[in-house]
Amino acid sequence: MNVYDSDRMIDLLKPLGYELTEEPSEADIAILNTCHIREKAEQKVYSDLGRLKLQQDQRRLEGNDMLIGVGGCVGQAEGAEIIKQAPYVSMVFGPQTYHRLPEMIAQLVRQKDANSKKRSRGLVDTDFPIESKFDSLTPPTISPASAFLAIQEGCDKFCTFCVVPYTRGAEFSRPALEIIEDAKRLVSLGAVEITLLGQNVNAYHGAAPYASVHGKNEWGLARLIQELSNIEGLKRIRYTTSHPRDVDQDLIDAHRDIPQLMPFIHLPVQSGSDRILEAMNRKHSAKDYLKIIELFKKAREDIAFSSDFIIGFPGETDADHKATLALIEEVKFGQAYSFKYSVRPGTPAGAMELQVEEKVKSMRLHELQHLLGDHQLSFNKSKIGTIQPVLFDRKAKLEGQMLGKTPYMQSVPMMIPERLFGKIVDVKIEDGYAGSLAGSIVTEEYIGNINPSHNGQEREIPV
Ligand code: 5AD
Ligand code: SF4
Repeated sequence: MNVYDSDRMIDLLKPLGYELTEEPSEADIAILNTCHIREKAEQKVYSDLGRLKLQQDQRRLEGNDMLIGVGGCVGQAEGAEIIKQAPYVSMVFGPQTYHRLPEMIAQLVRQKDANSKKRSRGLVDTDFPIESKFDSLTPPTISPASAFLAIQEGCDKFCTFCVVPYTRGAEFSRPALEIIEDAKRLVSLGAVEITLLGQNVNAYHGAAPYASVHGKNEWGLARLIQELSNIEGLKRIRYTTSHPRDVDQDLIDAHRDIPQLMPFIHLPVQSGSDRILEAMNRKHSAKDYLKIIELFKKAREDIAFSSDFIIGFPGETDADHKATLALIEEVKFGQAYSFKYSVRPGTPAGAMELQVEEKVKSMRLHELQHLLGDHQLSFNKSKIGTIQPVLFDRKAKLEGQMLGKTPYMQSVPMMIPERLFGKIVDVKIEDGYAGSLAGSIVTEEYIGNINPSHNGQEREIPV
């Protein structure tokens, strides 16, 4: 979501004459779009600010200036405190106020002109606005082959470990027509894949022009995806991040019925222990989660999953940890993210007793990541001998190499002709590693790779 927000900020600043630079020393404005989800991410903001200050000093020596802004969830949570600690920062704003960036910059420039050489005061804009920021955003003017599209924001779930409901605010769904317009635009600009974004993307319930089968003038995620699948040229649809509680039968059926919908779902479970799930306020059990996985698999047998895990939530015992390992063993995730629990200010879990020792967290994390890694490797290896449609949409680490993604988000770094950049290409998978696949191109021809039988996503090579 932060990547999406940063792109919107770029779009907002373009009409003012700004353009993106990869080189901080060239920047008239530097904005840190920050994350507050764990303490480590927050600490990074202050060290990054320290580095920017050096660039700002250097530019001033050369007679230029650099406005420094802090946006995102750290901006939202810390507000004026940031300017207190780093007085060289001139604007602080949150994820719901960045649409006012042009006004903030204009105000700072005016202040600076009026005070000539004097430092202007910093601006802090972190109120949650009544109007939706989406109404003020400019439509995208460029698009990568794989584009993000925010459809929902914020969260009302209040998991006890999480800052998101406080920093992103209440749940909000964008009207369906607005999303469809944005999606059409992205496709016309070159997107072949769109990932629908939301903190609780499957809680989506946007105003719609006409009623869905359930009678309300509101669409759920499945209905929206169905509509988006009619857009000519849109080959792949994904959505992230989902909450198990908001998975409904329509969404499960969509994976059976809509070939463009990729067979890979990020569905965080956080823990496999019911005791911990309850303390986390997740409002579902491990069994509920496994049931959902089973229903998805029934709808589409080649579906795969990724998840998030929090290790060492307050009160987590060895038995709770084992329950998480057992759930992992059962689902066998294709990919997963795991984090040590990090105390977040103002959240209920931060004040809970029985915080788990750092040493124990590290041991459990190591064990869990080992198991997840084994499963990811087997999953990757299970694709050896198949043909996968791979979307090459970005540069890989090595010079001349492109990075592609299979329907299951597996990375395929390959040397490919430049004309295939941004295209979906059939690749015969020849090897699978911990974090990537290797293969060779079967056909250079762009064939779209959508087979209504679904088997087109993964075909055995005839011997
Ligand atoms: N500590 C560790 N991980 C956290 N997450 C959210 N809050 C915390 C926290 N306090 C993780 C969850 C969530 C992901 C985005 O970040 O697993 O799904
Ligand atoms: Fe945070 Fe997700 Fe829980 Fe919302 S549902 S509080 S965003 S972890």
